[in-house]
Amino acid sequence: MIVRPRRLRSTPALRRLVTETRVHPADLVLPMFVREGSGDPVPISSMPGVVQHTTESMKPALARAAAAGIGGIMLFGVPEHKDATGSGADDPAGILNVATRVAAAEVGTDLVVQTDLCLDEFTDHGHCGVLDSRGAVDNDATNERYRAMALAQAEAGSQLLGLSGMMDGQVAEVRDALDAAGHTDLPILAYAAKYASAFYGPFREAVQSSLVGDRRTYQLDPANRREGLREAEVDVDEGADIVMVKPAMSYLDVLADVAATSPVPVWAYQVSGEYAMIEAAAAQGWIDRRRAIEESIVSIRRAGADAVLTYWAVEVAEWIR
Ligand code: PBG
Repeated sequence: MIVRPRRLRSTPALRRLVTETRVHPADLVLPMFVREGSGDPVPISSMPGVVQHTTESMKPALARAAAAGIGGIMLFGVPEHKDATGSGADDPAGILNVATRVAAAEVGTDLVVQTDLCLDEFTDHGHCGVLDSRGAVDNDATNERYRAMALAQAEAGSQLLGLSGMMDGQVAEVRDALDAAGHTDLPILAYAAKYASAFYGPFREAVQSSLVGDRRTYQLDPANRREGLREAEVDVDEGADIVMVKPAMSYLDVLADVAATSPVPVWAYQVSGEYAMIEAAAAQGWIDRRRAIEESIVSIRRAGADAVLTYWAVEVAEWIR
């Protein structure tokens, strides 16, 4: 026997030297929820360890994230009042825009401060867009709202706009609105291949979503691989600076496809349900929490993600350091 692959597995030092995939703190992005109002942070029961911050309680969390050396944060707003058009989204006094100003002032030079650009946290019906007279999500009217939201986020100091609504043409529309207002250098992260997934379940609690039904008329069918690649290509053509695949673990094939051909960076979002499953199993003692977390993130990087959005970003970065 000449070929013995086990030779390179024999010591920790050798294994470290021949590892193909590394996770660096700078590859990790922390999603953060910020709710309107004061008081203590509110725990999210389906995401143990994750809270809804206030604009005060987020400050020490931001400082810890910066000290851990992660790449950035992705902000989500949890408003007190919602309405049919999601008017809190483009209101400069709306919670997401206020939180963005706070984050940009606190850590804007150390971390890339990113914002979720979608209406679902702000609409009383919970959809990612506005509805037409029949109650269907109106694609083109929604893009008008995204244009306004993009300008509000730009003015609040967001450094990367995360377009997660899955409307057709949203990247081109937002790019046009930004450029017309002089924000030619503000980049767009397109949630290009975002699937209609059950793994968003805990997120709905996190943002107190009012959604009834599902998002299958705009998010992708989990069965479709080719279509995920097509969505990424369309978003690149429309000017996306980074494309994303979401969720991560059940869509590693799509991620690998996109990573193999994308001319721009490819990110993946390890979503709330992925977080909740590992936390729940670990809490039962059924899996080793730290090893499961590390394996999940390295798998997503191995499949082709240049960066990973994960609720464990800071903890993992602290382990690596
Ligand atoms: C929509 C949005 C969602 C998530 C991020 N952005 C929810 C959805 O599409 O239903 C889910 C993130 C997660 O589950 O961690 N603004």
